[in-house]
Amino acid sequence: MKPEPDYKEICLMMQSLAEGVPYTMTNLANASALLNDNLSDINWAGFYTMKNGQLVLGPFQGKVACTIIPLGKGVCGNAAAQDRTLVVPDVHAFPGHIACDSASNSEIVVPMHRNGEVFGVLDIDSPVFGRFTEKDREGLEAFVRVLENHI
Ligand code: SME
Repeated sequence: MKPEPDYKEICLMMQSLAEGVPYTMTNLANASALLNDNLSDINWAGFYTMKNGQLVLGPFQGKVACTIIPLGKGVCGNAAAQDRTLVVPDVHAFPGHIACDSASNSEIVVPMHRNGEVFGVLDIDSPVFGRFTEKDREGLEAFVRVLENHI
């Protein structure tokens, strides 16, 4: 079993991986691998980015996923539209949840910004109900703040 994630350490690793790398896709790809390697009990970690007013699948780790999510749809589309983190302890109870992997039971989605606008979202799924705590929310929001300097 993986130990509790040390988000401070994960943020430092992200900072050092992205230092001097001015390529968004490259940094998002490493970010998804870093999270997948360091978080326990997750089955999907990755990004959707805004293109033509919709969320489009970006770099991720996990099973193949839906490619386009309209704003306001699913957990991702709601988090982006409302520009706030959504922690969903039971995705089956979330109206309009989009099931990409039937193993997913809980989810966290954190909006990312560029030039003051929503640029996309970080999305993490777990097979464990109630997997994401307040500590995870704080840690992943801090992680996204680091990443925002490199997208
Ligand atoms: N469950 C998400 C869709 C993306 S997948 O989880 C990778 C949603 O409801 O927006």
